Amino acid sequence: MSKVNDVVEHVSVLAKTLAEQINLPPDGVMVDATIGHGGHSFLFGQTLGPDGVIVGLDVDTNAIRRAQFRLKDLACKVILLESNFSEIGERLDEQGIESVDFILADLGVSSAQLADVERGLSFDTDMPLDMRIDKRLKRTAADIVNRADEKSLADLIYRFGEDRASRRIARFIVQDRQSGPIRTTGQLAAIVCKALGRSGRRRRAGKHPATRTFQALRIAVNNELENLEKLLDSAAALLKKNGRIAVISFHSLEDRLVKTNFKENEKGGIYRIITKKPIVPTREEVQINRRARSAKLRIAQKQ
Ligand SMILES: C[S@@+](CC[C@H](N)C(=O)[O-])C[C@H]1O[C@@H](n2cnc3c(N)ncnc32)[C@H](O)[C@@H]1O
Repeated sequence: MSKVNDVVEHVSVLAKTLAEQINLPPDGVMVDATIGHGGHSFLFGQTLGPDGVIVGLDVDTNAIRRAQFRLKDLACKVILLESNFSEIGERLDEQGIESVDFILADLGVSSAQLADVERGLSFDTDMPLDMRIDKRLKRTAADIVNRADEKSLADLIYRFGEDRASRRIARFIVQDRQSGPIRTTGQLAAIVCKALGRSGRRRRAGKHPATRTFQALRIAVNNELENLEKLLDSAAALLKKNGRIAVISFHSLEDRLVKTNFKENEKGGIYRIITKKPIVPTREEVQINRRARSAKLRIAQKQ
């Protein structure tokens, strides 16, 4: 367990907006598919009575522990399960829950995970290049960076990072690893900067040059898109009539999956889309919480 994880607070994104859009009855049942520190659930838990239920899922043991503490005084029943949200159907089935009023997924990672040296997600601090959100996964980002051939690396950076310089970055990675394995986030960030002919400094309010490469590796290591597709596929069948699903995404690949899924379900008469355009945070929210800057919230309602 990391010390850093214990002190870094996670500020929930778009919490006020979500609370305005979702009305849970006192005996409502909600699934927080990404419980994290329980910030969003705490908010919804205030409106639930003793017959209400929150089922919280997370792949991170530390997050479950943090959420347990945060939600301990709520009046409703709280069930926290260390599980991937791709298995939401199985988990609810095991709990004897057939349908729910609300499913929330606040995708990506928490501030504590970003700051956790054991997780190796950040290029702001030099950390071992790991990137596994779920520590049970076998393959780390270092495994991919040091073992994949140049073409596979380039394809991965292009597909999951949408970086047009993917071939050049892959070439520099493969050249660099010939003199020894790439072990840290700092090493990888420096290689990407060299490939792009950029310094490691962010432009004001802009992205670090290695952002897209790091995004690509994180998506690949954690099977993020596959997991999200499974969650979205299961959700429609699990929601009650008039129940809602809300997804907060942080990059365009995730957002596209959500948008497509909601549209297809609307065409099939299963959903009504509540957010014709995604809701984004206000400038004030982004000023307080920089992590919110790329957030997009989409909501749909079961017909
Ligand atoms: C942005 S944080 C959620 C923060 C939470 N909404 C709050 O207000 O405290 C995202 C969480 O989702 C978890 N997570 C990411 N992918 C997951 C997956 N496939 N299944 C379950 N949990 C996942 C991460 O471990 C992390 O704790």
